[in-house]
Amino acid sequence: MAFPPSVRLVEVGPRDGLQNEPEAIATETKLELIDRLGAAGLAHIEAASFVSPKWVPQMADHHEVMTGLRRREGIVYSALTPNLKGLEAALECGVEEVAVFGAASETFSRKNINCSVAESLERFAPVLERAREANVRVRGYVSCVLGCPYEGEIASAKVAEVAKALHDMGCYEISLGDTIGTGTPLKAKRMLEAVARDVPLTRLAAHFHDTYGQALANLYAVLEEGVAVIDSSVAGLGGCPYAKGASGNVASEDVVYLLNGLGIQSGIDLDQLAATGHWITQAIGRPNRSKVGVALAAK
Ligand code: HMG
Ligand code: MG
Repeated sequence: MAFPPSVRLVEVGPRDGLQNEPEAIATETKLELIDRLGAAGLAHIEAASFVSPKWVPQMADHHEVMTGLRRREGIVYSALTPNLKGLEAALECGVEEVAVFGAASETFSRKNINCSVAESLERFAPVLERAREANVRVRGYVSCVLGCPYEGEIASAKVAEVAKALHDMGCYEISLGDTIGTGTPLKAKRMLEAVARDVPLTRLAAHFHDTYGQALANLYAVLEEGVAVIDSSVAGLGGCPYAKGASGNVASEDVVYLLNGLGIQSGIDLDQLAATGHWITQAIGRPNRSKVGVALAAK
């Protein structure tokens, strides 16, 4: 298959990027980050997470973030909702899109959301039903698609099974998460092929972390297969609190640079995005993990 002519980036920095930060980040900093990302052309921004503050304290200001957004036209601001309680709270904030998050690993599922994979799917069904009533779109995540911090290898058949279940339930898009970044290109391609037998490729997104420095190579492999939606995080921020050692998502700046080089449209202003990466890493005292961001700043 050929490269897609354009790619939609889902910017997960304000959620995946910040959720693991130990010190509380001011709500205003989060709002400014989201605003700057929108100004740089990101049209889909995952802004918050309606999870238990005991499990992920950094996302405790979800209400303030979602109601404080300086909304720009044409931008989707989404939020994670693991259960009905989370969804109801998100609906109160006028959310237009949410995401449920499952896993292809039993142990990770228990560590992350305190239930088995089967129980998580049972829990998501009423979330999907309520969201449909409220006219809110639901995205579905599958974590650990290329490896699990607790179980190691994960069978692609299991990834396909969970992805299909989420799709059949009504998730409009399934984001395939290499949560701990252990994947390599051929593995990523084979996993994608297995999932695409059960879920149309046009409904699949790549959510790759860069822990082992493979994320761009893995993205190249799935772009070649035709994947046209990529999740990324400005400055490569982030990590999952329930996946020890996992580093951030692939950096949005690096993805845009790759796409530009391949002649694939993304609608994003790279310089403005890189400036945003520079700003947020300074603001929260983190190193900039985008190679492109660092290179542009040194120019
Ligand atoms: P639980 O303890 O099994 O839930 O947690 P529960 O229903 O028994 O409730 C326990 C307490 O939590 C109660 O409060 C509930 O009210 C409260 P208490 O009576 O003890 O005061 N509660 C909530 N509070 C706020 N919002 C809610 C909510 N639900 C219950 N929605 C639960 C189950 C799912 C809530 C918990 O395990 C949790 O919040 N987990 C979140 C973990 C998380 O956010 N992980 C990071 C995101 S996933 C990720 O990063 C991977 C991804 O990026 C893809 C990839 O990279 O692969 C998506
Ligand atoms: Mg992630």
